[in-house]
Amino acid sequence: TSTSAGFEQGFLQCFQAILGNNTTSEVTFSKSSSSYEPLLNSSIRNARFLSSSVPKPNVIVTPQSLFHIQVALLCSKKNNLEVRVRSGGHDYEGLSYVSHVPFLIIDLVNLRSIEINMDEESAWVQSGATVGELYYAIAQKSKVHGFPAGSCSTMGVGGHFSGGGFGTIFRKYGLASDNVIDAQIIDVNGKILNRTLMGEDLFWAIRGGGGSSFGVITAWKIKLVHVPSTVTVFDVSRSLDQGATDLFHKWQTVAPKLPAELFLHNVVGVSNSASQGGKTVVVYFTGLYLGTAENLLPLMQNNFSELGLQHNNFSQMTWIQSVLHFAGYSIDESLEVLLRRNQTSSSFKAKSDYVKEPIPLVGLEGLWNMLLSENSPLLIFTPYGGKMSEISESETPFPHRKGNLYGIQYSVNLVSNEEAPKHLDWMRRLYEYMTPYVSKLPRQSYLNYRDLDLGVNQGKLNYENAKSWGLKYFKNNFEKLTQVKARVDPGNFFRDEQSIPPL
Ligand code: FDA
Repeated sequence: TSTSAGFEQGFLQCFQAILGNNTTSEVTFSKSSSSYEPLLNSSIRNARFLSSSVPKPNVIVTPQSLFHIQVALLCSKKNNLEVRVRSGGHDYEGLSYVSHVPFLIIDLVNLRSIEINMDEESAWVQSGATVGELYYAIAQKSKVHGFPAGSCSTMGVGGHFSGGGFGTIFRKYGLASDNVIDAQIIDVNGKILNRTLMGEDLFWAIRGGGGSSFGVITAWKIKLVHVPSTVTVFDVSRSLDQGATDLFHKWQTVAPKLPAELFLHNVVGVSNSASQGGKTVVVYFTGLYLGTAENLLPLMQNNFSELGLQHNNFSQMTWIQSVLHFAGYSIDESLEVLLRRNQTSSSFKAKSDYVKEPIPLVGLEGLWNMLLSENSPLLIFTPYGGKMSEISESETPFPHRKGNLYGIQYSVNLVSNEEAPKHLDWMRRLYEYMTPYVSKLPRQSYLNYRDLDLGVNQGKLNYENAKSWGLKYFKNNFEKLTQVKARVDPGNFFRDEQSIPPL
């Protein structure tokens, strides 16, 4: 529309006046540019938001320096364009690149340097780097250092660390955000702040409270962790007629109590196999042990002999090979695959829960029946305990610590726009079904598994309304997040459907 062209023109003129024609044409892309669409789609990780009916940004800016970000903020303010910041684009609801008002994306794809300081065992990582690039960079320097972030190698550290970030060694070392020791952020006034300058309250807020309410986080300083030179991985699956239900039932109490070096999660799906007499639920148990197979065997035999693991179920490898394994690659692939930023994506809807008491057998049987009524459900059950129980709920905004046995991620493939309503309805019925078995008052959810069903900011800011998702993601930390927001961005410039309102 002419109005939206007006926003765009105003922004580009402002940008040009400060940075000149050359820079403007190198780092800004409007709808008429042939690079606009490939750039926009390059890091959309939920194909649901590729559709032409989804609103698109007026302009995409790919800053090459912090100054470009400062100018983009200034010019978007002047021209009333909302700003969305994108690092890896993995947001489940597309909040880093979709908005229903005229908006611009600041895409940090060009700001992804990683500087490792082995003497300090630390690193500065720019927000546009992926976790795969970070793991790769660490592996280039050391075979016995790692970092406790998530498994999917294409996630951006900007969004992932600001929402928490867990992976296969989090029971030993905590979340990615628990291992951040400094950060760099550009605030609403365009000021570049480090930990000392931003203050401890803002530094607290961005380590689990999400970045999108507070500013543009441009880099994190992290502490590297020690990993042994040999780790051990195993994968075994059991269908219902192979005793999956009893094994899952037992897993619920065993996995959260295992030594912190041992991560044993499970993925539950539905398989259609003639040899198993048609459709069945399958539980895939997958583990990572920070140690050798020889030490793992007695641990599994003493704690979970029912799983029947033998030496031949175990594969020893280096930690970085385990990263390849959990990212879905063969461990013999070259490490360069971790540098790939492109990944095919499906159209999905996901939700999350936390469980504090084991689900009884009857509850599991009902859950399996729900799964069997859907084509491609996938549930991931992540055991907590270990280090996660030692960190207090208020240490960072991420509150899901002691007392949680495990977290659940439910996801379903929406297949196509036409079929989506049917699968979305199934997902909501599943969430309803789980109510008696999961955390209550509040029912907890993981911010990084963004779920707009929990509520959205509408019209005038409403603190009571925002509590509906705020308490689920942050429990009692929500209140403090609204206070930090009021201090650093009282005019609510940085906002989205689930941003923190200023108190
Ligand atoms: P994206 O760029 O979409 O940003 C997410 C949010 O953060 C948006 O609100 C965005 O505006 C904001 N943001 C991003 N960069 C910012 C910056 N520099 N400054 C301020 N705000 C910023 N999680 C997990 O803990 N463990 C896991 O193993 C996985 N695995 C996984 C697999 C797959 C395939 C997907 C799609 C997602 C996951 N996740 C996950 C969830 C993941 O942690 C979550 O989607 C992160 O927010 C992704 O961060 P990105 O930077 O990629 O997202």
